[in-house]
Amino acid sequence: MATLYSTHCRSYSPLTPSPSSSSYSSNCSSSSSSSKLGRVAVSSSAPKRFLAAKLSVLSQNQNVARMQDGAVATAVTPIENDYPFKNLKGGLLSVPSTDECKDAVGFDINENESTVSITVVGASGDLAKKKIFPALFALYYEGCLPKHFTVFGYARSKMTDAELRTMVSKTLTCRIDKRENCGEKMEQFLERCFYHSGQYDSQENFAELDKKLKEHEGGKVSNRLFYLSIPPNVFIDAVRCASLSASAGNGWTRVIVEKPFGRDSESSAALTKGLKQYLDEDQIFRIDHYLGKELVENLSVLRFSNLIFEPLWSRQYIRNVQFIFSEDFGTEGRGGYFDNYGIIRDIMQNHLLQILALFAMETPVSLDAEDIRNEKVKVLRSMRPLELENMVIGQYKSHTKGGVTYPAYTDDKTVPKNSLTPTFAAAALFIDNARWDGVPFLMKAGKALHNKKAEIRVQFRHVPGNLYNRNIGTDLDRATNELVIRVQPDEAIYLKINNKVPGLGMRLDRSNLNLHYAARYSKEIPDAYERLLLDAIEGERRLFIRSDELDAAWSLFTPALKELEQKRIIPEYYPYGSRGPVGAHYLAARYKVRWGDVSVEQ
Ligand code: BG6
Repeated sequence: MATLYSTHCRSYSPLTPSPSSSSYSSNCSSSSSSSKLGRVAVSSSAPKRFLAAKLSVLSQNQNVARMQDGAVATAVTPIENDYPFKNLKGGLLSVPSTDECKDAVGFDINENESTVSITVVGASGDLAKKKIFPALFALYYEGCLPKHFTVFGYARSKMTDAELRTMVSKTLTCRIDKRENCGEKMEQFLERCFYHSGQYDSQENFAELDKKLKEHEGGKVSNRLFYLSIPPNVFIDAVRCASLSASAGNGWTRVIVEKPFGRDSESSAALTKGLKQYLDEDQIFRIDHYLGKELVENLSVLRFSNLIFEPLWSRQYIRNVQFIFSEDFGTEGRGGYFDNYGIIRDIMQNHLLQILALFAMETPVSLDAEDIRNEKVKVLRSMRPLELENMVIGQYKSHTKGGVTYPAYTDDKTVPKNSLTPTFAAAALFIDNARWDGVPFLMKAGKALHNKKAEIRVQFRHVPGNLYNRNIGTDLDRATNELVIRVQPDEAIYLKINNKVPGLGMRLDRSNLNLHYAARYSKEIPDAYERLLLDAIEGERRLFIRSDELDAAWSLFTPALKELEQKRIIPEYYPYGSRGPVGAHYLAARYKVRWGDVSVEQ
């Protein structure tokens, strides 16, 4: 038996500093002489669940199965993640069980002396109901929350604790709701949920919250996490009030903020400055939920722990890289927010750019958050700011199909009739460093398209002097290898290869080496918010955006965004439910690229 990779919560290796130096320490000292409240020393080391522990590679009797797209899948014996040392057949890597959440070190050391209070500010909003409470419950169900924890909802509307509980229980649409003992666990979880009604800019209301939190903390070391699920115009007020009136007295205080982090470089810098009046950088957890997605998290594992990828990861072998996001629904109901931002700010400048940075960064010194973020920021700073000529924008228009009429973007009552806000954009970006010089990094993001998908496509160069060119025909592009990382839905990683069709002749076809998650792993994939909330509780910053990363990201997009708005560039209109503007194909063609998601075989 060799070793296992630990990927689940609370699977700690002996390499991590003792909890006394971690953010769970009950005797954390202030890390700076800052007058900001609730500051504590935080170890920058990754929690043990991120450090490679053990890896088990057993025998090789791999089954071969045909996958949905005619592709070939190997080793389809599913891993039972709940029973880590069982069912290890067919050379599979094993993943530790959820029980490790309960058994490992981490919270346990100080659990009798310390508490964690999680306050969801904006508790009655959509994000809180759909994502944050279900994610917290999932963490509770999995045994990933510390022994003494309390969840507080905070919002302006009047609500009792019982009403909050009813609200939370109704919106439990997360992956847990079909699981064993869900009802019982839910009851236990709800008993730990409370509500306080208050204004976001009232220190007095936050002081009342503080009083209630203290009652629950019962004199133990208090650690407090505030999740700001509120509009950005009240971020700073809420942070001011939380910091001045409801910071933890003797433990850590952390604040999770969710985009939009401004609209451009200037507004983002102003927001950062505002937040830093009351918080230190290491108290601010800027969430980009795409970083919490399983396959995005896996990018670095794929690249840095497999010999076969990293040597190919450069301009020498990679022709282009594509980051594709599409949704098959419009902005219905969110037009008010969306119209002020548009798809470039909503998806590209954050989700897709973050994935790009992880994809293209140099090998970090370690898995430590600062090492990873240092490398990401280097990539972003090596990139050329986006130019208008390297982008295409679109907006969906009404379309009738099968007797159903789908609305245009501007049919939304909260959107101005003459809005030019893009609901689709494609862009070609370049990283001017030795590794990626000249390689186009293409992005495409759109709403109201024909499908819902997020994927990364890596198209490799042609095989030089390919002996089989005659068998391939004239379209050599079609025969190049392509690695596809399908982030969602139906997570998969597959590599398109050329293969001989069995038989006496010499006919080649394109087949996939396919790692299809549903076939390979039996356990459902945690929601991104679960991972990120757990990281914030553990003080793990690797998947959160540092302010210099944010600045670098904005400087890439701000000039083009301003120009678009100043020149009132008219988007290309595309029918609701279509593949988007044809301009995206011309843009790709300019760089001799074909979008991988439009070919017949995909
Ligand atoms: C959000 C965007 O950040 O991500 C939304 O604001 C988008 O417009 C959403 O719909 C997509 O997230 P997911 O996880 O559903 O792909």
